[in-house]
Amino acid sequence: MAYSLYLCSLNFVLTMNLISDINIISQDTSPAQADNVRTTGDSNTGKKRKLYIESYGCQMNFADSEIVSSVMFDAGYDTTSNIDEADVVFLNTCSIRDNAEQKVRHRLFHINNAKNRRPEMVVGVLGCMAERLKSKFLDEEKMVDLVVGPDSYRTLPALLNEVDEGQKAVNVFLSREETYADITPIRLNNNGVTAFISIMRGCDNMCSFCVVPYTRGRERSRDLPSILNEASELINQGFKEVTLLGQNVDSYKWENEHGNVINFALLLEQVALLSPLLRVRFSTSHPKDITDDVLYTMARYENICNNIHLPAQSGSSSVLKRMNRTYDREWYLERVQAIRRIIGPDCGISTDIIAGFCGETEEEHQDTLSLMHQVKYDYGYLFAYSERPNTPAAKKYIDDVPEDVKNRRLTEIITIQRQSSHESNLRDIGKTYEILVEGYSKKSEDFLQGRTSNNKVVVFPKKHYQKGDYLEVKVLDCTSATLLGESI
Ligand code: SAH
Ligand code: SF4
Ligand code: F3S
Repeated sequence: MAYSLYLCSLNFVLTMNLISDINIISQDTSPAQADNVRTTGDSNTGKKRKLYIESYGCQMNFADSEIVSSVMFDAGYDTTSNIDEADVVFLNTCSIRDNAEQKVRHRLFHINNAKNRRPEMVVGVLGCMAERLKSKFLDEEKMVDLVVGPDSYRTLPALLNEVDEGQKAVNVFLSREETYADITPIRLNNNGVTAFISIMRGCDNMCSFCVVPYTRGRERSRDLPSILNEASELINQGFKEVTLLGQNVDSYKWENEHGNVINFALLLEQVALLSPLLRVRFSTSHPKDITDDVLYTMARYENICNNIHLPAQSGSSSVLKRMNRTYDREWYLERVQAIRRIIGPDCGISTDIIAGFCGETEEEHQDTLSLMHQVKYDYGYLFAYSERPNTPAAKKYIDDVPEDVKNRRLTEIITIQRQSSHESNLRDIGKTYEILVEGYSKKSEDFLQGRTSNNKVVVFPKKHYQKGDYLEVKVLDCTSATLLGESI
């Protein structure tokens, strides 16, 4: 069960009918963790074959689908939003919680009907679930023709050739080097204003509940020049905002040929210096790794947005220890204080929280509630613990909090977050913010919406403004999810 109070979900709905290359239905589970369906249209560049992709999971998975589209475009595939005309169907999957995997199984069940009608249609499972289940997938889901893990997308054309020759194909090799740095992603769900750039892959943290280190492999950072090139190209195409993506961006580390080490603070600075008109965001920050250096860099550059996604997971030091998060409550609160001291009290802070982790007592749960009261998060992604096979927690602890208790605790967490988001929005009434316009509001084409630096969505009357504009808006009213304003 997941609940998202992320305010930007409107954004994706907006982009639905805009410029598009491929069909993506995306259900996110991480920083941009809104349960959204994103669809894009068709590309007709005259290629012989058609590809249809659905993406599940986090922004990193979504960014991977853009890499896959690029590899497939070079191999002769246009894209389609209609599964019935696709030669190849890919599901780019997520394993983070059991329900993420169940969604994919349900989809495969439906896709099976399409495959029965058109047996020549190739069905491939990509991403984290492919990596976790490997060739077992082929035994469990008979209509799947190919299973490809996150580091093997370059081999997709060769694997499809094997399938054409009547074989099933699997490649779940995890690499220590692959960053796809040289592949220009084909931008999907493109609103022409905001884009994501992957700066690293994998994760070396062993949070005991988490499947990611097993599905994504070892952490590796992409080289600085290729990141700067990608950002510059986006600027040239008119994009106004980039979000640098990684499971733990604060551990970004790349060494150039002279032995100079670029850390995340330096990378952020380099991207920010490309253009004062480019907004820079990033996600996700691990509380153990976010340095004052990064915070000072954020404070120094106006165009680095004042917003930090800093997942706490729990407010109890003993639970954090069992989770192997390697920080405790005091450390976490000190980092929050540092953010407010160095960047300012207006810096947006969001979190991820897991309710009902193994052995969580009522008192430990109360510690999470009190942390939430103390920090007053602007947004939260809130989950009930879901045991993942073969993770350290599955091996070491018993998933012993009953489902009804987990759900009750999750509900309490949601209630506090909702209040806190609403209070945060109420405090903004009367204030003026610079926003970047992302497109029409969800409900009406007479209204536009944009985001403040601290990541709040503001809806306002359209007048003569267009997406991509920067403008000042005064906040007049709010809901718990959105600010309502007018341009000044
Ligand atoms: N790298 C990010 C998190 C990526 S996964 C970080 O360290 O913060 C996104 C979120 O999913 C996590 O922050 C966590 O809150 C949640 N999550 C991960 N594994 C989970 C599990 N087994 N059960 C429930 N939620 C989980
Ligand atoms: Fe998972 Fe922890 Fe890595 Fe985040 S930092 S992806 S929660 S192991
Ligand atoms: Fe992302 Fe899900 Fe994999 S959250 S890294 S797609 S397990």
